[in-house]
Amino acid sequence: MSGPDLRQAAAARAVALVQDGMRLGLGTGSTANVFVTLLGARVRDGLDVVGVPTSEATRVAAEREGIRLATLEELPELDLTIDGADEIDPEMRLIKGGGGALLREKIVAHASRRMVVIADAAKRVGTLGAFPLPIEVNAFGLGATRRGVEAALAACGCSGELALRKAGDGAPFTTDGGHFILDARLGRIPDPEALCAALWAVPGVVEHGLFLGLATGAILAEARDGEAALS
Ligand code: 5RP
Repeated sequence: MSGPDLRQAAAARAVALVQDGMRLGLGTGSTANVFVTLLGARVRDGLDVVGVPTSEATRVAAEREGIRLATLEELPELDLTIDGADEIDPEMRLIKGGGGALLREKIVAHASRRMVVIADAAKRVGTLGAFPLPIEVNAFGLGATRRGVEAALAACGCSGELALRKAGDGAPFTTDGGHFILDARLGRIPDPEALCAALWAVPGVVEHGLFLGLATGAILAEARDGEAALS
């Protein structure tokens, strides 16, 4: 059973949670993309929902599927967000932002009554931090912000390399909001709440990929006896 099969299984279960009339947050990434495709099929069968996309990539995918879209100005409160994750710990704390959409993903998740994570069960970890933590920063003052981030990491017992994310052409990767991303390779994050607060205190940090207290459920898929088992 391959990764795409597992993503398909998790996304299919999530689509079954969607009811007529719901206001949805639409996540970003390969798993969320499968969800958007499956949701599109239900919309074409008559399901009436409206979605707020968490990235330009998801907006394009949802439009292609014929899903009605809105903004958070029009719909400041959502019923359900379905999104992927890069790591999920036993307390449903997440690292997100591998695809660079963390800022809009967090705003949309925060505006939602429920956020359900869909992922390959391999994303489950005991302690967050093996996946590099994305930290979205303003392009202005990058050097100073970087020093502030390094100090915040050290104050929280985290050490590791901080790398400016690059696009395919070698230029800095730019988010939908026009910001840069510093990826922090930490290995483990002993106190995610403390790190969350410390990073927010650094001027120039726009957002970071620790999603704490936002996920209300998770659908994780793993291969068992050649079938996708969901938990
Ligand atoms: C994008 C994200 C994604 O949800 C996360 O990277 C998981 O992606 P995938 O489903 O492709 O593994 O946070 O910013």
